[in-house]
Parts: sequence; structure tokens; C-alpha cells
Amino acid sequence: MLRLLVLISGAGSNLLSLLEECESEGFPAEVVAVGADRSASGLDHAVRRGIPTFTVDGAGFADREAWGRELLTRIQECKPDLVILSGFMRLLPPGVVDLLAPRLINTHPAFLPEFPGAHAVRDALSAGVAQTGASIIVVDRGVDSGPVIAQERVPVEAGDSENSLHDRIKTVERRLLAHTILDIAHGVITLEELA
Ligand code: GRF
Repeated sequence: MLRLLVLISGAGSNLLSLLEECESEGFPAEVVAVGADRSASGLDHAVRRGIPTFTVDGAGFADREAWGRELLTRIQECKPDLVILSGFMRLLPPGVVDLLAPRLINTHPAFLPEFPGAHAVRDALSAGVAQTGASIIVVDRGVDSGPVIAQERVPVEAGDSENSLHDRIKTVERRLLAHTILDIAHGVITLEELA
């Protein structure tokens, strides 16, 4: 079983979908812990399943590096095979990325390299594009700049709001993430070869 550790900052709807996937017969991965950088309501999805959670609040440290060191310690205690950033809204310090990558992946609500950053859905709507997308990438030191593992286009529909478009993108993110984990578990994808 592939040991997954998921980091979140918010409601964790993609986390919930992954947890349900892991509960399905024959899925070759389990979530061993869920971490957050703030009090994130999505942690409840793990708590309800008896999965350990932790919070390393970014506001409680002198600088990003000190926060990152504590976060890394908590992650390493769980001995994950793969760390997944799933709506984790704080940039990891380079030292943490270097130690976890390439077994550190991120889901992003755009067709990277289009619309990197924290407001990808809003930016796509503002740009007036006909389609955006969803991507799963290996995390590197940059902002959403790592190698793409999987991605898919999502059309922008007339009358879309940021929420309606984001919801549609998230359904694709969830599917791509589940396939990516399957492929990693089965050796179809070797992250070391992508990075
Ligand atoms: C996802 O679209 C993720 O890619 C982005 O934040 C969203 C997370 O949503 N960075 P949720 O917290 O899983 O509902």
C-alpha cells in the first residue's frame, strides 16, 4: 500500500474524494495522515475516519524556514511514500521541497503552465478563455512550475461563476489525482524520471 500524506488549507473536498477512493476495494493506497497550515475544516474528514491529523500554523513561527522545519518533522514522522498538496495555500520553503521532491505532488485548477498561482480559476475567467483545465504536477521550488504528471482541459461555460467553474474543475482534479496515484502505485509513473 502506498502511504499518502495530504496537506490542506481549506474545506478539503478533494481530500474527501481521495479518502473515499482509498476506501474502495483494491485501491492500492491509504491516507496515513492529513496536515494543515491553519485551522482547516477539511481536517474533519480525516478525524471522522480515525486518520491522524496535525496543524502547523504558519502564523506561529518567526519565519517561513522555521515553520517549514516543523512541518517537515511532522511529515517525516508519518513516513509517507507520497505527499500530496491538495488545496494547500502556503508556499513550502525550498529546503522542504528539496527533501520531499519528487515524491511531492500538487493538484492545480488550471492547465499549467497557464494560470499558475492562488487565483487560477479567477484568472482564467478574467482572461476570457474558452477553456482552462486541471493539472497534477511534481512540486519544485517555483510556484506551480514543476513537471506536469497529468492534465486535462475543462471548458468555460457561458455564465460560469468562479465557483461553478471551480467545482467543474475539481471533479476533473479528483479523477486525475486518483489515476495518478494508481499509476504511481503500479509503477506506470516513476516520479524520479519526471523530475
Ligand atoms: C483545488 O482546486 C486545488 O487545486 C486548489 O484548491 C482547491 C482545493 O479545494 N489549490 P478543496 O479544499 O479540496 O475543496
